[in-house]
Amino acid sequence: MRPQLPFRVAVAALLVAGAGSAFAQGAPIKVGLMLPYSGTYAGIGVAIENGFKLYVQEQGGKLGGREIQYFKVDDESEPSKATENVNKLIKRDNVDVLVGTVHSGVALAMANAAKANNTLLVIPNAGADAITGPLCAANIVRSSFSNWQPGYAMGTVAGGKGVKRAMTITWNYAAGAESTKGFTEGLEKTGGKVIKDLNLPFPGVEFQALLTEIAAQKPDAVYAFFAGGGAVKFVKDYAAAGLNKTIPLYGPGFLTDGTLEAQGASAQNMLTTLHYADNLDTRRNNDFRKSYALTYKANADVYAVQGYDAAQILGNGLKAVNGDLSKRDQLTAAMRKTAVDSPRGKFTLSAAGNPVQDMYLREVKGNYNEFRSIAVKALADPARGCKM
Ligand code: BEZ
Repeated sequence: MRPQLPFRVAVAALLVAGAGSAFAQGAPIKVGLMLPYSGTYAGIGVAIENGFKLYVQEQGGKLGGREIQYFKVDDESEPSKATENVNKLIKRDNVDVLVGTVHSGVALAMANAAKANNTLLVIPNAGADAITGPLCAANIVRSSFSNWQPGYAMGTVAGGKGVKRAMTITWNYAAGAESTKGFTEGLEKTGGKVIKDLNLPFPGVEFQALLTEIAAQKPDAVYAFFAGGGAVKFVKDYAAAGLNKTIPLYGPGFLTDGTLEAQGASAQNMLTTLHYADNLDTRRNNDFRKSYALTYKANADVYAVQGYDAAQILGNGLKAVNGDLSKRDQLTAAMRKTAVDSPRGKFTLSAAGNPVQDMYLREVKGNYNEFRSIAVKALADPARGCKM
């Protein structure tokens, strides 16, 4: 039989329990931003954080009726430090939600930690195919893309332009390998093939020997995956070697997104594929760009959009449960079911938690990636190996 509590003790215990749960509901939601704030991807990390905070600011500083408290870790795009870094947010800061990151190798470690600790994870960039493939989980969603998606789209565009022999060049890590694999798949489907894959270690920028090999092989086109500071250097070196006059340089949009001011003339007229274009003439995109420019005195890019949408997906989930994080299953289901009203255009999430979205063909004009056409409509990642 349960021992009887004296009446006053029981009342006091009830009051404390009540106050505790009221406090938990009213307390801020702890969001752990794990992003690169140093190294070649530093600018990408800043744009994602800006985009995330802009959406929260537009909601009056709250998501699902709750204030947001931020915790930050610079992951340096360094996979060897990733587990230690993510545990600072999960175990030391006790965050409710992880948001990160940019680099696929770091994101793979974050996904494993999120699964092991059952922490909510929203990925605002890293495209590692495995995260919405064999590693897929109810507590993980992505607001960005899988590495396969823009690569596959560019492969179909290149094949459609009559490219028969292509070369690829990239950093030797998951994102580069998966992006070029997607390109190869799209190209082969449309009648071309890749004659050689070139790579160098991340985040190296010693491109000269590889450019010499491209010049010797004379392919019909080159597909390159680089981003951030490395993309700036590669596009400039490609033009400085005179290769852009004879061998078209294609890529996923990361090659020219957030980089155009630094790339200048070397990037002009380049064609890339991505789920965003600067000049999408919709009210949603125009309002977003205006608000971003006013707040941060900078032009928005795809990374800012992905950060903004990460907050939007989390916000839609929290709204469905009135900010009650203990309703975990309802929250994760609502996040997955959300129709995201993004500056890129409306999109939904697949069962694996990856955006199903239009892939645009864009052309560089001045400092903008301008929309040319829809390369592939509502492209879903194949989610190979995801069992949910
Ligand atoms: C990645 O590592 O997944 C990645 C990094 C920068 C841009 C796009 C993808």
